[in-house]
Amino acid sequence: MTKKHLITSALPYINGVKHLGNLVGSMLPGDVYARYLRQQGEEVLYICGTDEHGTPAEIAAEAAGKDVAAYCEDMYTIQKDIYERFGISFDYFGRSSMPANHKLTQELFLQMRDNNYIEEREILQYYSHADHRFLPDRYVEGTCPSCGYTKARGDQCDGCGRLLEPTDLKDPYSAISGSKDIELQSTKHIFLLLDKLTEPLEAWVATRPEWPDGVKGIAKKWLKEGLQPRCITRDLKWGVPVPLDGYDNKVFYVWFDAPNGYISITQDWAASIGQPDAWKAWWQDLEAVHYVQFMAKDNVPFHSIFWPAMLMATGQPWKQVDYIKGVNWLTYDKGKFSTSQKRGVFTDVALELYPADYWRYYLMANCPESDDADFTFAHFAAIINKDLADILGNFANRSFSLIHKYFEGRLPVVLDQSSLDQGLLTKVSTMVADYQKSLSDMKFRQACAQLRGLWVLANEYITVNEPWKTAKTDLLQAGVCLSHCIYLLRLFAILGHSLMPTVSLKILALLNDPLTESEGSTAFAAGLEFTAYKAGHLLADPVRLFEKIEDDRVAELTAQYDGH
Ligand code: 2FM
Ligand code: ZN
Repeated sequence: MTKKHLITSALPYINGVKHLGNLVGSMLPGDVYARYLRQQGEEVLYICGTDEHGTPAEIAAEAAGKDVAAYCEDMYTIQKDIYERFGISFDYFGRSSMPANHKLTQELFLQMRDNNYIEEREILQYYSHADHRFLPDRYVEGTCPSCGYTKARGDQCDGCGRLLEPTDLKDPYSAISGSKDIELQSTKHIFLLLDKLTEPLEAWVATRPEWPDGVKGIAKKWLKEGLQPRCITRDLKWGVPVPLDGYDNKVFYVWFDAPNGYISITQDWAASIGQPDAWKAWWQDLEAVHYVQFMAKDNVPFHSIFWPAMLMATGQPWKQVDYIKGVNWLTYDKGKFSTSQKRGVFTDVALELYPADYWRYYLMANCPESDDADFTFAHFAAIINKDLADILGNFANRSFSLIHKYFEGRLPVVLDQSSLDQGLLTKVSTMVADYQKSLSDMKFRQACAQLRGLWVLANEYITVNEPWKTAKTDLLQAGVCLSHCIYLLRLFAILGHSLMPTVSLKILALLNDPLTESEGSTAFAAGLEFTAYKAGHLLADPVRLFEKIEDDRVAELTAQYDGH
């Protein structure tokens, strides 16, 4: 039975415009996969939204001089607009701060509590005398006990990546005021007894042998190190309130509510389409759905262990993730992209510089799948100039201009079995099948290389057949060649749709193809038809598909965004 496909991309933090590393880590590969499956005629629901709670939101709002709710509202609109302009085809882009998520998170919590997976404990926590408040983990900074990085946060060290507790830090201080006048005091918090779930989690992870090695490795490492009860409350005002007495100044830890957002945002989607129960078919019908999550690798522990554990602890039959696509880091000129240090290219700036599809193609062709990948403007320009302008763009240009020159812009010949180049056709169909398999397997880098392989083949085909020469002696021969080129261009538009949706539409428009109207449903198989156009089919006037990026411009951009 074919399954329905539920796809989620890790919910981006609300605290500012995201950089290219965030985009390539979760949203872009999720989108390419979603678009590809829709093209295959599969039923897809693609869900994402902003992750709005926790200290990052509070800190960013304060820095922007705004009330946190207003800050989130504004930033949600800004982020949503950017993803639309990148062509990310979410079925719904919601927010973790919506009432549905508050309600769901509280319900799930109470079920976990009924099942004895919740415990209240008195713990020692830093209290800042200068700030008159308890400091949640990110509000404490200090020196990392592992690597000595002096600005390690109380939850994680940015120097070495180790997850920390605030009490692990040496020389701790308040990140709010910088004050060192902080001391450990006793306060009540709530813990999720993850340790009690070790066995069912181990058994469950074992049912997912198809997970990528990196993802399985991270999940197994966590299990092997032994799961500990984890504190799920924080001393903040902004967040999901704890539905118990005595927690007025506390809310749930952001990772306790954010993943529930996948479900609650689906509920908001269902309400938005006027079918408030439609979400159930995606989250409660376990067999009918195949669920894939996209995320950067630092999110893997939360998605492979922590959230599955929460759902198990509710005792309810929630749909659990089938496949986790974890993506490594994209670095920026050998260093880190950094939101806080404004280092790298951010998604809003990227769109001002070049069309979305340049970025989409570049980022997927260099997707940090098995290893980290590095972004430089020089590399970006090299890929755009070579793959897009020189190979695909040049092929399209030559084909269209020759047809306009010798055939008044009309399809020269309707190809049939006698005129078809069987050798070309055989190669093409093998390569298309390989490409299709890579996209099904979510091997994006490989898929891009295979698509590029098809463009190279097309260029070789036109170069070897020299229709610009044969047109002078044997117009029919030139026409047969150029009609193959038209076929190939249509094929490229359709195959490339998931990677470069706008370019794909542009090519279809140049071909004057009726499919132009039905972008999303452009069927993959339609690209393989040789007889798409009737005799005399008129093409549109040629326009250039890609502009090259000159060396001077590369130097300028490199200097402008060097992050220093
Ligand atoms: O790392 C991040 O950007 C987190 N905001 C991802 C959250 S994913 C989900 F669980 F909400
Ligand atoms: Zn460290």
